[in-house]
Amino acid sequence: MSLEPHEYHEALAQLAWQVELGADEAISSVAVDRYAEKTKPAAVKPAEVVAPVAEAPADVSAEAARLAAGCSDLDALRAAVENFDGCDLRRGARNTVFADGNPAARVMVIGEAPGKEEDRAGKPFIGASGQLLDKMLAAIGLSRMAEDREQAVYITNVLPWRPPQNRDPLPEETTMMKPFLMRHIELIKPDFLMLVGNPSNQLLLDTEQGVTRLRGQWHEVAGIPAVSIFHPAYLLRAPAQKRLAWADLLMLKAKMEES
Ligand code: URA
Repeated sequence: MSLEPHEYHEALAQLAWQVELGADEAISSVAVDRYAEKTKPAAVKPAEVVAPVAEAPADVSAEAARLAAGCSDLDALRAAVENFDGCDLRRGARNTVFADGNPAARVMVIGEAPGKEEDRAGKPFIGASGQLLDKMLAAIGLSRMAEDREQAVYITNVLPWRPPQNRDPLPEETTMMKPFLMRHIELIKPDFLMLVGNPSNQLLLDTEQGVTRLRGQWHEVAGIPAVSIFHPAYLLRAPAQKRLAWADLLMLKAKMEES
């Protein structure tokens, strides 16, 4: 069988992901097309609201909302975030990490917060977990480098500044920055959201539940279908969970092909 160059690269990306999943031997000489075995997508289920999250000071939140609402394009939003003075994390960060990828992408990926490498480079997901994220996306034919919106992704985080010692984001920090993130989503207008890790899921789905409970079903954020997926940093620590992440990637791929 001869492959077109793009088919060859897709096959290689899928193989790399299968190796990540721990597949180290072939069990059949015939390929099984899992994409053809489409299961009925799970119904959109609204996220359960379990408990209110901690509030940011009202005046700072109101200022963030006012600034975000006034941004009519991505450049304005980037400048508004960079200049926002309400969040102390900005003072300890080397760079504001705004986004990477193609703003025309169908899929917008939302992670947690920059780590050390991201803080240095000013780009999201470029360290070890970012490399795994790139492999996960490549396995379903997506890339932050792609020019065609069908294959492209756009990547951002809940927080644009690195928390000290990579501690978890505080709820008051994420709620304070939420108006900027919501405006970011409105300006990108993706067809799908991929919520990576607990903080982005909890903030955007208004829940205290974690990805373990939220994954495997479709959610909605501002009318946009959203899939919950384990954070690649967690997958690096718990590789057995890659199997579930693969199922979630396939769920997204199937829905993208449907619409
Ligand atoms: N983890 C994230 O959630 N985002 C990054 O940009 C890097 C690591």
